[in-house]
Amino acid sequence: MEEFRTLVLYRSQHGTTKRYAQWIADALNADIMEASKKTFNDWSFKMTRYDMVLFGGNINERGINGIKDYKAALSKERIDNFAFFCVGSYPASEETVQEHIVDNFKENERAKAKLFYFRGRLDFIGLSWYEKRIMGGLMKAIEKKYEEDRTPIEAELLEAYYDDIDWSDKSYIQPLVDYVKSFMTPEQLAYMEPIAAEKIAERTRIEEEEEAAWEEEMKRREALYYENEAQKEKDKLKKMSKKQREYYIRKKAEREGAESVEELKKAFGVEFEEDIETASDIESLDDYSEHEDPAEEVQEEEKE
Ligand SMILES: Cc1cc2nc3c(=O)[nH]c(=O)nc-3n(C[C@H](O)[C@H](O)[C@H](O)COP(=O)(O)O)c2cc1C
Repeated sequence: MEEFRTLVLYRSQHGTTKRYAQWIADALNADIMEASKKTFNDWSFKMTRYDMVLFGGNINERGINGIKDYKAALSKERIDNFAFFCVGSYPASEETVQEHIVDNFKENERAKAKLFYFRGRLDFIGLSWYEKRIMGGLMKAIEKKYEEDRTPIEAELLEAYYDDIDWSDKSYIQPLVDYVKSFMTPEQLAYMEPIAAEKIAERTRIEEEEEAAWEEEMKRREALYYENEAQKEKDKLKKMSKKQREYYIRKKAEREGAESVEELKKAFGVEFEEDIETASDIESLDDYSEHEDPAEEVQEEEKE
């Protein structure tokens, strides 16, 4: 029995398409390669060694990243079995697939353009300056519309603006995996499946580890942020008079509840005439709200 050989080629700007390509390669025990121009220009690169070649690219302004290079490579080497996949921010539907076929393949190419679409990720924070400009333009156009005129997808994209939304999901690759498997003989399938199962399990383990490490890192950053903020606040209080400090702390208790100021009270030995337990207790204390906020005054002085 000859093993069924699959190659997954991908091009990805922000990593989501790469992640899909890895999931696909694991599920099919395939080779995987980044489809850079260098890859295609390498004389030793031969797609004809494979029984199936998959090309994947992220969608950028309706175009599949790398599609021209893929097609040029296909025209140089005669490959019988190939398919495409692309990753974009719009929800998956037959309509989306058809739109991308029309946008990326000429009429005479469409009969052979087997295309799969997966929903990716929008991480506005991670975009380049140029990409932010393009997306900013799109978002402004959505914002200009009356709320009731926005499509649900437009409303969703607007909500994702300045945020990081990840719609990618391993299960979406299944139709593509099934499509490739339909080319394998029962023997090839029986040989491939246990190896793929191991690779999938290994990838899941790596991803879980990465996620746990990322969560730890986020907690660390958050703790550091609050530590810095607390230090800044203490430095600010040091510059105030006793009365200003007391006023500042009462205001803070009003906003955040008495518990949140315990540490500050201890740090500065601020004594209250009456014990403050809840924010509502404060309302019954002296009416400090008539005064200007001395904390702000101190800040103003610092600025000057
Ligand atoms: C400048 C820009 C243009 C985009 N244009 C489209 C588009 O036309 N259609 C779409 O569905 N998604 C579009 N997207 C969303 C990306 O395709 C999506 O974020 C994808 O997950 C990116 O894949 P990558 O992480 O592999 O680069 C665009 C994203 C950017 C930054």
